[in-house]
Amino acid sequence: MKNILLLKGSPREKGNSAILADRAAAGALEAGAQVESIYLHGLDIRPCDACDLCTDGMCVIEDDMQPLYPKLAAADAILLASPVYWFTYSAQLKVCIDRWYGFQGHHWKEISRKQFGVILTYGDTDLYTSGAINAIHTFETMCRFLKSEIIGIVHGSLGDVGDAEKHPDLLQQAYDLGKLLATEKIK
Ligand SMILES: Cc1cc2nc3c(=O)[nH]c(=O)nc-3n(C[C@H](O)[C@H](O)[C@H](O)COP(=O)(O)O)c2cc1C
Repeated sequence: MKNILLLKGSPREKGNSAILADRAAAGALEAGAQVESIYLHGLDIRPCDACDLCTDGMCVIEDDMQPLYPKLAAADAILLASPVYWFTYSAQLKVCIDRWYGFQGHHWKEISRKQFGVILTYGDTDLYTSGAINAIHTFETMCRFLKSEIIGIVHGSLGDVGDAEKHPDLLQQAYDLGKLLATEKIK
């Protein structure tokens, strides 16, 4: 059974990226995976302070990242869901990913060779004008560095809370991404 960790990066607990992320989780569960969903906005995650003490072990900052580190390490796949804020992914997700720097103490071993899924929602009309393309570029570069694979990206132009419910095409794409994360063999 695959272990999937879902990181939700929007402050809107029932917003568009969360709706699509929940559909993906439903697809993954249906396909037999185990899914844990984390609402990042509700956590106390401080920014990396570049103390570099992690070079000898793990991150020393005592906050809500500490229980998240073992979950990240145990995950076969990580699903990142975020709204586009100021032409890239949200600060809530950024502050969490920055803290993955803490894995350097073990040469990134715990956060490497995973599968990733990405869900991005934005108010503008497309990938380019919204800036979603910048988030995708970052995730692609990150995955190359972490020797990990992006299994799929679901993105869409959605404004008000709940708009995602009106897009059966996006809901289906998210569901299919969840299924794929649950079933695709890790290379
Ligand atoms: C602070 C803030 C910044 C935003 N910046 C952008 C942006 O740069 N590009 C864009 O297309 N939409 C932007 N939006 C719109 C959101 O990305 C859009 O409403 C999205 O569907 C929200 O997803 P959510 O419901 O999951 O939070 C912004 C919204 C907020 C609140």
